[in-house]
Amino acid sequence: MMIRTAARSLMAIFASLMLIVCSSRTTYSRPNHLAEAPISGDEWPLHGRTSNEERYSPLHQISSTNVSALGVAWYRQFDTDRGQEATPIMVDGKIYVSTAWSKVFSFDARTGQLLWSFDPKVPGQVNVKACCDVVNRGVAVADGRVFVATLDGRLIALNAKSGKLLWSVSTVDRSKPYTSTGAPRVVKGKVVIGNSGAEFGVRGYVTAFDASTGKLAWRFYTVPGDPAKGPDHAASDDKLADMAKTWYGKGWIENGGGGTVWDSIVYDAEFNQLYIGVGNGGPYDYKLRSEGKGDNLFLSSIVALDPDTGKYRWHYQETPGEAWDYTATQNMILATLTFEGKPRKVLMQAPKNGLFYVIDRATGDLISADPYTNAELTWFQGLNGATGRPDVNPAAYYSEKPSMVSPGPTGVHSWHPMAFSPATDLVYVPVQESGALNFTATKDFKMKPGDWNTGTDFRAVVLPDDPAVVSSIAKSLTGALVAWDPVQRKVRWVVHQPYQRNGGVLATGGNLVFQGTADGRFVAYSADQGQALWEYKVGNGIVAAPISYAVDGEQYVAIMAGFGGSAITTGFQFPQKQRLPGRLLVFKLGGTVTPEAYVLSNRPPLQVTETPAGAGTIRRGQDAYQLHCMTCHGIGVLGGTLPDLRRSPAIVDKAAFDAIVLGGALSQNGMVSFRRRFSREDEEALRQFLQSKAREDRN
Ligand code: HEC
Repeated sequence: MMIRTAARSLMAIFASLMLIVCSSRTTYSRPNHLAEAPISGDEWPLHGRTSNEERYSPLHQISSTNVSALGVAWYRQFDTDRGQEATPIMVDGKIYVSTAWSKVFSFDARTGQLLWSFDPKVPGQVNVKACCDVVNRGVAVADGRVFVATLDGRLIALNAKSGKLLWSVSTVDRSKPYTSTGAPRVVKGKVVIGNSGAEFGVRGYVTAFDASTGKLAWRFYTVPGDPAKGPDHAASDDKLADMAKTWYGKGWIENGGGGTVWDSIVYDAEFNQLYIGVGNGGPYDYKLRSEGKGDNLFLSSIVALDPDTGKYRWHYQETPGEAWDYTATQNMILATLTFEGKPRKVLMQAPKNGLFYVIDRATGDLISADPYTNAELTWFQGLNGATGRPDVNPAAYYSEKPSMVSPGPTGVHSWHPMAFSPATDLVYVPVQESGALNFTATKDFKMKPGDWNTGTDFRAVVLPDDPAVVSSIAKSLTGALVAWDPVQRKVRWVVHQPYQRNGGVLATGGNLVFQGTADGRFVAYSADQGQALWEYKVGNGIVAAPISYAVDGEQYVAIMAGFGGSAITTGFQFPQKQRLPGRLLVFKLGGTVTPEAYVLSNRPPLQVTETPAGAGTIRRGQDAYQLHCMTCHGIGVLGGTLPDLRRSPAIVDKAAFDAIVLGGALSQNGMVSFRRRFSREDEEALRQFLQSKAREDRN
């Protein structure tokens, strides 16, 4: 549990933020899939391939002995250049995949021929309700239907053959800052979906809809509602009183409390149980939210529900009194592991808080929770052996004075899916090895509809002025691929990586692990030893997870390329400073296709001729930038995949700047109008601040 001291002290000194052969047509069924129809080893029909979501393909035509012959079989380029986070689905020789802006595409899995596409026409303005880009993590396919959750909170069913709309329902109150980015799961004739928005101020829940009609079947709220309004007439009603006992004061009521279920939802066929991963609190600040008291159920918890009724079964809370964006939404994998000769049915998760959890699925009891990376866990003081409850370090709370906390909101592991190989019994986790945030509470916090409402002061999230120091901070923010043995509770191998936010993982029967990287490489490692065996330069950062499938006896590996997601905020650490069109790349042994090279067009530093404004104006502009622009245009105005505003010609053209920032000229593309958020004086101060950054950039 060491973090490199140099990096750590830099952070402390500057109080800087780091937000911030394939068995053709053979069937393969895992022995623990008793209640499930066997799934063909050739297909990838569910989000994590099987309902256990191992992200393991038994195919072994492509193996550690021949992977060097892997080449591109076909690729398709999309019409969106934002983050691509989707896991494709492959059934009946067809691929179904979603892209940024919740668009859906179907391709012939062998040839790549486009069969149909569907655009739900998400309004560009919705971008401003999304914390972390306009991403979508995938579709679900069942009984001839394709289901997609759109960024603006619709759940849509399409005909899998034609792409024609079958039904569409709204899953959220669209007057509130809800979005939806997760892949729906189809469980026993129902489509289950959650939502996002805890940073802005919403109340989390999951909803099940009838798969054939879209009719609401049940809803489970993950946090209590306003007690004055009474019960919700929802599946969670029975549990509301127990939840409410763990919340104090009123801070959370207006805000919604958070607890959104924005990613992992897993069906356990053996226990007929549905697991939901619940997100962080809203606002983040514990004192503001709940007077600094209580566990705040079910924030940062795994909750088991009855999939037929949505009723509560059990829960395990990973971070009681959560205050650091420590979501428990990360992907969950179900397996049967053998401990001292005894098989146990377990659930595994590596959430943001930095521990690797193994939980008994029958009871919800904790089996183990271990740190498994170099990241320092300053919030954690050990586990209470009897209850499995973690002891939270009181010094990590920041309501009274700022506190440097590691991991920061990026987490040690975020949504980028980990994989489990039943051949090696190892879990492969894409991690953030470092990163801390100096959490600072907002003084006199007031909920502002439409804004980020975390109760943490974004004005404190600044980088030092010295570019050499910024560059050394950037270099200290490294990632890793960790092979963790969940039974022995130890690391078997680790590959250190130069950047964070690398892609999700695929494990295969060919003794291989595949992963894409933030710096645009697609890599195959041996699953048993972590030896890098093959690497392909994609030219665009990868955050999504690969899949593998076979058609006509030939094995393929497919991956979505397209950098973005939460990485946009900390763009300064990444080499790619440009949005590039997303691509679906499909590989096979002996593939010979050479994709068209990406065209990079870096803007040169700007020449600014206006007389600089006074320090007071610049300071006012900086505050406006921190509060309203940083989450998309990057910390330190250093850009990321979205425009580097230091080099935007609009900052030296007052009318153009006004047309964009208050006029909303680019709102269709996600750059909304800030007319309701600030005045023309703020706007001009902001422009002056950006000019001052442009001058620094040129020097
Ligand atoms: C929710 C995300 C988001 C936020 C917040 C945001 N922007 Fe943008 N901005 C974008 C996107 C996306 C684009 C690119 C639009 C396009 O491709 O046409 C953009 C483009 C711009 C451009 C044009 C850049 C160029 O030259 O191409 C300017 C200027 C700009 N933003 C200013 C601002 C300012 C000032 C703020 C804060 C008040 C801000 N933005 C906040 C998403 C955002």
